[in-house]
Amino acid sequence: MKALILVGGLGTRLRPLTINTPKAMMPVLNKPFIAHVVDHLIGHGVDEVIFTRGHLAGQMELYFGEIYRGCKVTFINEERPLGTAGGIKNCERYLDSTFFALNGDVFSTIDLSAMLAQHRSKHAVATIALTPVENPSAFGLVETEKDNRIRRFVEKPKSEEIATDLINAGCYILEPEVFNYIESGKNTSIERETFQFLLRDHRPFYAFVDRKSYWIDMGNRDKYFQFNMDMLSGRCHCSATPPAGANIGDGTTLDSSVTITGNVMLGHSCHVAPGVRIEGPVVVGDRCNISKNALIRNSVIWENVELDDNDEVNESIIADNCHIGSGSRLSGSTLADGVYTTPDYFLTGSQVWPGTALSN
Ligand code: GDD
Ligand code: MG
Repeated sequence: MKALILVGGLGTRLRPLTINTPKAMMPVLNKPFIAHVVDHLIGHGVDEVIFTRGHLAGQMELYFGEIYRGCKVTFINEERPLGTAGGIKNCERYLDSTFFALNGDVFSTIDLSAMLAQHRSKHAVATIALTPVENPSAFGLVETEKDNRIRRFVEKPKSEEIATDLINAGCYILEPEVFNYIESGKNTSIERETFQFLLRDHRPFYAFVDRKSYWIDMGNRDKYFQFNMDMLSGRCHCSATPPAGANIGDGTTLDSSVTITGNVMLGHSCHVAPGVRIEGPVVVGDRCNISKNALIRNSVIWENVELDDNDEVNESIIADNCHIGSGSRLSGSTLADGVYTTPDYFLTGSQVWPGTALSN
Protein backbone atom coordinates (compact mmCIF):
# COMPACT_ATOMS: atom_id res chain seq x y z
CA MET A 1 0.00 0.00 0.00
CA LYS A 2 1.16 3.53 -0.78
CA ALA A 3 1.30 6.54 1.52
CA LEU A 4 1.51 10.15 0.46
CA ILE A 5 3.08 12.57 2.93
CA LEU A 6 2.57 16.32 2.67
CA VAL A 7 5.82 18.05 3.53
CA GLY A 8 5.31 21.30 1.68
CA GLY A 9 5.09 23.68 4.64
CA LEU A 10 7.82 26.18 5.51
CA GLY A 11 7.91 25.39 9.24
CA THR A 12 7.54 29.10 10.02
CA ARG A 13 6.44 28.54 13.61
CA LEU A 14 9.59 26.46 14.26
CA ARG A 15 12.01 29.18 13.21
CA PRO A 16 14.90 29.67 13.71
CA LEU A 17 15.42 25.87 13.84
CA THR A 18 13.84 25.42 10.39
CA ILE A 19 15.83 28.05 8.52
CA ASN A 20 18.45 25.49 7.44
CA THR A 21 16.70 22.26 8.48
CA PRO A 22 13.30 21.29 7.10
CA LYS A 23 10.72 20.62 9.82
CA ALA A 24 10.46 17.00 8.71
CA MET A 25 14.21 16.49 9.26
CA MET A 26 14.39 17.96 12.76
CA PRO A 27 15.88 15.22 14.96
CA VAL A 28 13.74 13.43 17.51
CA LEU A 29 15.87 11.03 19.56
CA ASN A 30 18.63 11.63 17.01
CA LYS A 31 16.57 10.51 14.03
CA PRO A 32 14.62 12.75 11.63
CA PHE A 33 11.04 13.36 12.76
CA ILE A 34 9.64 12.11 9.46
CA ALA A 35 11.61 8.83 9.70
CA HIS A 36 9.58 7.98 12.82
CA VAL A 37 6.42 8.61 10.79
CA VAL A 38 7.63 6.40 7.92
CA ASP A 39 8.66 3.65 10.37
CA HIS A 40 5.11 3.63 11.74
CA LEU A 41 3.70 3.38 8.19
CA ILE A 42 6.07 0.50 7.34
CA GLY A 43 4.89 -1.25 10.52
CA HIS A 44 1.39 -1.21 9.02
CA GLY A 45 2.35 -2.63 5.64
CA VAL A 46 3.16 0.52 3.66
CA ASP A 47 5.74 -0.31 0.97
CA GLU A 48 5.86 2.94 -0.96
CA VAL A 49 6.03 6.49 0.32
CA ILE A 50 5.54 9.58 -1.82
CA PHE A 51 6.71 12.90 -0.41
CA THR A 52 5.36 16.12 -1.87
CA ARG A 53 8.56 18.09 -1.72
CA GLY A 54 8.96 21.54 -0.33
CA HIS A 55 11.37 23.71 1.59
CA LEU A 56 14.94 22.22 1.70
CA ALA A 57 13.68 18.83 0.52
CA GLY A 58 17.13 17.88 -0.80
CA GLN A 59 18.10 16.93 2.78
CA MET A 60 15.22 14.43 2.86
CA GLU A 61 16.30 12.90 -0.45
CA LEU A 62 19.82 12.43 0.90
CA TYR A 63 18.52 10.70 4.03
CA PHE A 64 15.96 8.38 2.47
CA GLY A 65 17.46 7.67 -0.96
CA GLU A 66 15.25 5.64 -3.34
CA ILE A 67 14.65 2.76 -0.92
CA TYR A 68 14.33 3.13 2.84
CA ARG A 69 13.99 -0.05 4.95
CA GLY A 70 12.62 -1.92 1.93
CA CYS A 71 10.10 0.83 1.22
CA LYS A 72 10.18 2.63 -2.14
CA VAL A 73 10.55 6.40 -1.75
CA THR A 74 9.47 8.95 -4.37
CA PHE A 75 9.78 12.73 -4.22
CA ILE A 76 7.37 14.91 -6.15
CA ASN A 77 8.22 18.53 -6.86
CA GLU A 78 5.78 21.31 -6.25
CA GLU A 79 6.96 24.37 -8.09
CA ARG A 80 4.65 26.58 -6.07
CA PRO A 81 2.62 25.62 -2.98
CA LEU A 82 -0.54 23.81 -4.05
CA GLY A 83 -2.15 23.51 -0.61
CA THR A 84 -3.14 20.30 1.11
CA ALA A 85 -5.53 19.15 -1.65
CA GLY A 86 -3.51 20.46 -4.59
CA GLY A 87 -0.43 18.68 -3.22
CA ILE A 88 -2.33 15.39 -3.20
CA LYS A 89 -3.81 15.98 -6.67
CA ASN A 90 -0.29 16.64 -7.97
CA CYS A 91 0.54 12.98 -7.18
CA GLU A 92 -2.54 11.52 -8.90
CA ARG A 93 -0.55 9.61 -11.51
CA TYR A 94 1.14 7.56 -8.76
CA LEU A 95 -2.04 6.68 -6.88
CA ASP A 96 -4.45 4.32 -8.61
CA SER A 97 -5.78 2.41 -5.59
CA THR A 98 -6.59 3.02 -1.89
CA PHE A 99 -3.81 5.06 -0.23
CA PHE A 100 -2.88 6.74 3.04
CA ALA A 101 -2.39 10.52 3.01
CA LEU A 102 -0.69 12.20 5.97
CA ASN A 103 0.15 15.66 7.16
CA GLY A 104 3.93 15.52 7.46
CA ASP A 105 4.09 17.36 10.79
CA VAL A 106 2.06 14.87 12.80
CA PHE A 107 3.26 11.78 14.61
CA SER A 108 0.83 9.26 16.00
CA THR A 109 0.67 5.63 16.99
CA ILE A 110 -2.83 5.26 15.48
CA ASP A 111 -3.57 1.67 14.47
CA LEU A 112 -3.53 2.20 10.72
CA SER A 113 -4.35 -1.47 10.03
CA ALA A 114 -7.58 -1.19 12.06
CA MET A 115 -8.34 2.09 10.30
CA LEU A 116 -7.91 0.41 6.91
CA ALA A 117 -10.13 -2.50 7.96
CA GLN A 118 -12.88 -0.03 8.94
CA HIS A 119 -12.41 1.95 5.69
CA ARG A 120 -12.92 -1.24 3.67
CA SER A 121 -15.86 -2.52 5.72
CA LYS A 122 -17.70 0.81 5.28
CA HIS A 123 -16.82 1.01 1.56
CA ALA A 124 -15.72 4.57 2.29
CA VAL A 125 -14.24 6.95 -0.29
CA ALA A 126 -12.45 8.74 2.53
CA THR A 127 -11.72 7.96 6.18
CA ILE A 128 -10.20 10.48 8.57
CA ALA A 129 -8.51 9.51 11.85
CA LEU A 130 -9.80 11.59 14.76
CA THR A 131 -7.98 12.34 17.97
CA PRO A 132 -9.15 14.27 21.06
CA VAL A 133 -7.54 17.60 22.02
CA GLU A 134 -8.28 20.06 24.80
CA ASN A 135 -8.77 23.01 22.48
CA PRO A 136 -9.82 22.20 18.90
CA SER A 137 -9.65 25.83 17.69
CA ALA A 138 -6.28 25.40 15.92
CA PHE A 139 -7.38 22.22 14.15
CA GLY A 140 -10.10 20.72 11.96
CA LEU A 141 -13.12 19.93 14.10
CA VAL A 142 -15.05 16.83 13.06
CA GLU A 143 -18.59 15.92 14.10
CA THR A 144 -19.82 12.42 13.44
CA GLU A 145 -23.02 10.36 13.43
CA LYS A 146 -23.37 7.30 15.68
CA ASP A 147 -22.07 5.03 12.90
CA ASN A 148 -18.96 7.28 12.50
CA ARG A 149 -20.18 8.83 9.28
CA ILE A 150 -18.92 12.41 9.14
CA ARG A 151 -21.64 15.03 9.63
CA ARG A 152 -19.58 18.21 9.66
CA PHE A 153 -15.97 19.30 9.21
CA VAL A 154 -14.99 22.79 10.39
CA GLU A 155 -11.41 23.89 9.84
CA LYS A 156 -10.14 26.22 12.63
CA PRO A 157 -13.56 26.46 14.34
CA LYS A 158 -14.65 29.56 16.26
CA SER A 159 -15.33 28.98 19.94
CA GLU A 160 -19.11 28.91 19.40
CA GLU A 161 -18.68 26.15 16.79
CA ILE A 162 -16.88 23.76 19.13
CA ALA A 163 -19.25 20.92 19.99
CA THR A 164 -16.77 18.05 20.38
CA ASP A 165 -13.14 17.47 21.42
CA LEU A 166 -12.43 15.36 18.34
CA ILE A 167 -10.26 16.80 15.60
CA ASN A 168 -8.79 15.75 12.28
CA ALA A 169 -5.57 13.95 13.17
CA GLY A 170 -4.09 14.73 9.73
CA CYS A 171 -4.17 11.08 8.68
CA TYR A 172 -6.49 9.91 5.91
CA ILE A 173 -7.29 6.86 3.84
CA LEU A 174 -8.49 7.94 0.40
CA GLU A 175 -9.85 6.28 -2.72
CA PRO A 176 -8.72 7.64 -6.11
CA GLU A 177 -12.33 8.88 -6.55
CA VAL A 178 -11.33 11.79 -4.29
CA PHE A 179 -9.18 13.18 -7.14
CA ASN A 180 -12.44 14.01 -8.96
CA TYR A 181 -13.12 16.56 -6.22
CA ILE A 182 -9.82 18.45 -6.60
CA GLU A 183 -9.04 20.88 -9.40
CA SER A 184 -5.56 20.37 -10.83
CA GLY A 185 -2.85 23.00 -10.87
CA LYS A 186 -4.62 25.15 -8.27
CA ASN A 187 -3.87 25.85 -4.61
CA THR A 188 -6.72 24.09 -2.82
CA SER A 189 -7.40 22.85 0.68
CA ILE A 190 -8.54 19.32 1.45
CA GLU A 191 -10.04 20.57 4.73
CA ARG A 192 -11.92 23.62 3.41
CA GLU A 193 -12.81 22.35 -0.05
CA THR A 194 -12.47 18.62 -0.86
CA PHE A 195 -14.00 17.33 2.39
CA GLN A 196 -16.86 19.83 2.08
CA PHE A 197 -17.59 18.57 -1.46
CA LEU A 198 -17.71 14.94 -0.23
CA LEU A 199 -20.26 15.99 2.41
CA ARG A 200 -22.30 17.99 -0.11
CA ASP A 201 -22.50 14.96 -2.43
CA HIS A 202 -23.27 12.54 0.46
CA ARG A 203 -20.30 10.34 -0.43
CA PRO A 204 -19.38 7.61 2.13
CA PHE A 205 -17.04 9.68 4.29
CA TYR A 206 -16.15 8.23 7.71
CA ALA A 207 -14.18 8.92 10.87
CA PHE A 208 -11.91 6.45 12.60
CA VAL A 209 -12.04 7.55 16.22
CA ASP A 210 -8.95 6.81 18.28
CA ARG A 211 -8.94 8.23 21.81
CA LYS A 212 -6.07 6.09 23.14
CA SER A 213 -3.09 6.42 20.80
CA TYR A 214 -0.35 8.99 21.16
CA TRP A 215 -0.74 11.98 18.81
CA ILE A 216 1.23 15.19 18.39
CA ASP A 217 1.32 18.00 15.83
CA MET A 218 4.90 19.24 15.84
CA GLY A 219 3.76 22.74 15.02
CA ASN A 220 5.94 24.84 17.31
CA ARG A 221 9.05 24.79 19.49
CA ASP A 222 7.27 23.61 22.62
CA LYS A 223 5.59 20.73 20.79
CA TYR A 224 8.91 19.69 19.23
CA PHE A 225 10.53 19.73 22.66
CA GLN A 226 7.60 17.84 24.19
CA PHE A 227 7.76 15.15 21.50
CA ASN A 228 11.42 14.46 22.31
CA MET A 229 10.58 14.25 26.01
CA ASP A 230 7.55 12.00 25.40
CA MET A 231 9.61 9.62 23.28
CA LEU A 232 12.33 9.51 25.90
CA SER A 233 9.96 8.90 28.80
CA GLY A 234 7.93 6.24 26.97
CA ARG A 235 4.78 8.38 27.18
CA CYS A 236 4.84 7.99 23.41
CA HIS A 237 5.30 4.26 23.06
CA CYS A 238 6.54 3.13 19.65
CA SER A 239 9.35 1.18 17.99
CA ALA A 240 11.79 4.02 18.79
CA THR A 241 11.10 4.11 22.54
CA PRO A 242 14.47 3.60 24.26
CA PRO A 243 14.93 1.68 27.52
CA ALA A 244 14.66 3.88 30.63
CA GLY A 245 17.93 5.37 31.95
CA ALA A 246 21.09 6.14 30.01
CA ASN A 247 21.34 5.15 26.32
CA ILE A 248 24.85 5.64 25.03
CA GLY A 249 25.71 5.51 21.31
CA ASP A 250 28.57 3.53 19.77
CA GLY A 251 32.02 5.03 20.12
CA THR A 252 30.94 7.56 22.75
CA THR A 253 33.42 7.90 25.58
CA LEU A 254 32.41 8.94 29.10
CA ASP A 255 34.81 9.67 31.90
CA SER A 256 34.13 7.53 34.99
CA SER A 257 33.27 10.68 36.99
CA VAL A 258 30.37 11.61 34.68
CA THR A 259 26.96 11.41 36.38
CA ILE A 260 23.81 10.67 34.41
CA THR A 261 20.36 10.70 36.00
CA GLY A 262 16.90 10.26 34.47
CA ASN A 263 16.28 9.29 30.86
CA VAL A 264 19.11 10.26 28.59
CA MET A 265 20.09 9.49 25.00
CA LEU A 266 23.62 10.24 23.87
CA GLY A 267 24.46 9.84 20.19
CA HIS A 268 27.49 8.08 18.76
CA SER A 269 31.11 9.27 18.75
CA CYS A 270 30.61 11.84 21.53
CA HIS A 271 33.18 12.68 24.15
CA VAL A 272 32.04 13.47 27.69
CA ALA A 273 34.77 14.83 29.96
CA PRO A 274 35.34 14.47 33.73
CA GLY A 275 32.83 16.00 36.13
CA VAL A 276 30.04 16.41 33.55
CA ARG A 277 26.47 16.05 34.89
CA ILE A 278 23.59 15.12 32.62
CA GLU A 279 20.17 15.29 34.25
CA GLY A 280 17.48 13.79 32.02
CA PRO A 281 15.36 14.06 30.11
CA VAL A 282 18.21 14.97 27.77
CA VAL A 283 19.01 14.09 24.16
CA VAL A 284 22.49 14.72 22.78
CA GLY A 285 23.24 14.12 19.07
CA ASP A 286 26.21 12.44 17.42
CA ARG A 287 29.80 13.74 17.58
CA CYS A 288 29.24 16.20 20.44
CA ASN A 289 32.03 17.23 22.75
CA ILE A 290 31.01 18.00 26.34
CA SER A 291 33.91 19.48 28.28
CA LYS A 292 34.77 19.34 31.97
CA ASN A 293 32.14 20.01 34.63
CA ALA A 294 29.44 21.00 32.14
CA LEU A 295 25.84 20.50 33.23
CA ILE A 296 23.00 19.61 30.84
CA ARG A 297 19.48 19.46 32.15
CA ASN A 298 16.14 18.87 30.39
CA SER A 299 17.44 19.78 26.93
CA VAL A 300 17.76 18.66 23.32
CA ILE A 301 21.14 19.03 21.65
CA TRP A 302 21.68 18.17 17.96
CA GLU A 303 24.90 17.01 16.24
CA ASN A 304 28.48 18.16 16.48
CA VAL A 305 27.93 20.62 19.33
CA GLU A 306 30.77 21.74 21.57
CA LEU A 307 30.12 22.68 25.18
CA ASP A 308 33.22 24.08 26.86
CA ASP A 309 34.24 23.73 30.53
CA ASN A 310 31.65 24.64 33.17
CA ASP A 311 28.83 25.39 30.71
CA GLU A 312 25.27 25.02 31.97
CA VAL A 313 22.43 24.17 29.60
CA ASN A 314 18.89 24.16 30.99
CA GLU A 315 15.57 23.65 29.16
CA SER A 316 17.19 24.56 25.84
CA ILE A 317 17.50 23.37 22.27
CA ILE A 318 20.89 23.65 20.59
CA ALA A 319 21.04 22.82 16.87
CA ASP A 320 23.96 21.42 14.83
CA ASN A 321 27.51 22.78 14.95
CA CYS A 322 27.11 25.25 17.82
CA HIS A 323 30.05 26.10 20.06
CA ILE A 324 29.34 27.45 23.53
CA GLY A 325 32.25 29.22 25.24
CA SER A 326 33.30 28.09 28.73
CA GLY A 327 31.31 29.13 31.77
CA SER A 328 28.27 30.09 29.68
CA ARG A 329 24.71 29.56 30.87
CA LEU A 330 21.79 28.89 28.53
CA SER A 331 18.31 28.68 29.92
CA GLY A 332 14.98 28.29 28.10
CA SER A 333 16.71 29.22 24.84
CA THR A 334 16.74 27.97 21.25
CA LEU A 335 19.95 28.17 19.27
CA ALA A 336 19.80 27.44 15.54
CA ASP A 337 22.76 25.82 13.78
CA GLY A 338 26.26 27.26 13.85
CA VAL A 339 25.83 29.64 16.79
CA TYR A 340 29.00 30.61 18.62
CA THR A 341 29.33 32.25 22.03
CA THR A 342 32.32 33.72 23.79
CA PRO A 343 33.06 32.48 27.36
CA ASP A 344 30.73 33.41 30.25
CA TYR A 345 27.83 34.24 27.95
CA PHE A 346 24.43 34.17 29.72
CA LEU A 347 21.28 33.65 27.67
CA THR A 348 17.73 33.27 28.99
CA GLY A 349 14.53 32.72 26.99
CA SER A 350 16.17 33.69 23.69
CA GLN A 351 15.99 32.49 20.10
CA VAL A 352 19.21 32.77 18.17
CA TRP A 353 19.40 32.75 14.36
CA PRO A 354 21.83 30.45 12.47
CA GLY A 355 25.47 31.40 12.41
CA THR A 356 25.19 34.16 15.01
CA ALA A 357 28.32 34.99 17.00
CA LEU A 358 27.33 36.11 20.51
CA SER A 359 29.92 37.99 22.48
CA ASN A 360 29.91 39.84 25.79
N1 GDD B 1 2.89 19.70 -0.44
C1 GDD B 1 2.32 20.65 0.28
N2 GDD B 1 1.94 21.82 -0.34
N3 GDD B 1 2.15 20.46 1.60
C2 GDD B 1 1.57 21.44 2.31
C3 GDD B 1 1.16 22.66 1.75
C4 GDD B 1 1.37 22.86 0.34
O1 GDD B 1 1.05 23.90 -0.26
N4 GDD B 1 0.63 23.43 2.73
C5 GDD B 1 0.70 22.71 3.87
N5 GDD B 1 1.28 21.51 3.62
C6 GDD B 1 1.54 20.43 4.57
C7 GDD B 1 2.30 20.92 5.79
O2 GDD B 1 3.70 20.73 5.59
C8 GDD B 1 1.77 20.00 6.87
O3 GDD B 1 2.51 18.80 6.93
C9 GDD B 1 0.35 19.68 6.42
O4 GDD B 1 0.29 19.98 5.03
C10 GDD B 1 -0.73 20.46 7.17
O5 GDD B 1 -0.50 21.84 7.07
P1 GDD B 1 -0.40 22.78 8.36
O6 GDD B 1 -0.12 24.15 7.87
O7 GDD B 1 0.53 22.19 9.36
O8 GDD B 1 -1.89 22.74 8.86
P2 GDD B 1 -2.44 22.86 10.35
O9 GDD B 1 -1.56 22.19 11.32
O10 GDD B 1 -2.81 24.28 10.61
O11 GDD B 1 -3.85 22.03 10.23
C11 GDD B 1 -3.87 20.75 9.64
O12 GDD B 1 -3.44 19.75 10.53
C12 GDD B 1 -4.26 19.55 11.72
C13 GDD B 1 -3.67 18.40 12.50
O13 GDD B 1 -2.40 18.71 12.92
C14 GDD B 1 -5.33 20.47 9.20
O14 GDD B 1 -5.30 19.28 8.43
C15 GDD B 1 -6.24 20.31 10.39
O15 GDD B 1 -7.55 19.93 9.97
C16 GDD B 1 -5.71 19.22 11.33
O16 GDD B 1 -6.53 19.11 12.50
MG1 MG C 1 0.35 21.38 11.31
